[in-house]
Amino acid sequence: MSLLSRINSRVREEGYAKTLQYGVLVGADSFTAYLRDTYLDLKYSDRLLRGNNVSSFKHLGANDVFHTDYSVMPLLFRNLPVSPDDVLVDVGCGKGRVINYWLSQKYKNQIIGLEIDPDIAANTARQLANHANVKVIPGDAIETLPSEGTIFYFYNPFNEEKVVKFEQKVRELTRGNQVNIIYYNPKSLHVFENSKWSIQRFDFERDFGVKRWGRLNKYHELAILTKKHPCIK
Ligand SMILES: C[S@@+](CC[C@H](N)C(=O)[O-])C[C@H]1O[C@@H](n2cnc3c(N)ncnc32)[C@H](O)[C@@H]1O
Repeated sequence: MSLLSRINSRVREEGYAKTLQYGVLVGADSFTAYLRDTYLDLKYSDRLLRGNNVSSFKHLGANDVFHTDYSVMPLLFRNLPVSPDDVLVDVGCGKGRVINYWLSQKYKNQIIGLEIDPDIAANTARQLANHANVKVIPGDAIETLPSEGTIFYFYNPFNEEKVVKFEQKVRELTRGNQVNIIYYNPKSLHVFENSKWSIQRFDFERDFGVKRWGRLNKYHELAILTKKHPCIK
């Protein structure tokens, strides 16, 4: 639907005043987001990270390279406190915005980005080379998954066949460690619906009181998965 027809249908449904009010709010939100994206990108990556890339690794189940919006990140991570011993892993880190967000929170933790596209991984590693606590590992996350990881961020990096492999691998590799997965817009959540994980689901509107508009209109669901101790059934 074109912008004009969207505006027309909104005017028909809600009238001119409400449509204008909505337009002003969305405009202000987009402008604030633009400033925040620019600031965080330049501060940590020294370049603007805007834009998506079509993946050259679709034959390996990869999804395209797109970002979690910075505006959503405080909501994603607010329900899981990070302790100094946690090792944070972004599974499919792309251009590194989630790592930038973690750095902006002043975490001194070990941070690991896994990225299948070697060119993107190399750029992201170069951008973050000044941060001794950050490492970007190129390759397939199923092969490079670090056993020391305790908090894994997961934003649909790959298709479901691969999610099944990831679920197994992360359990086997991390054995007795405490492990949490922050799963944003959890498209393949049922893969984790077994006796090995406890699952907390959050809806931004219902649980965080966040209304759907502007950039937050996109995805509103989050799951936090906690690996059960092997002795707990
Ligand atoms: C949706 S993007 C998410 C980027 C970043 N995590 C974020 O939220 O801003 C998914 C990323 O996962 C990468 N990816 C896909 N399959 C992968 C795999 N098997 N191993 C590592 N990275 C992978 C893609 O190249 C892409 O950069």
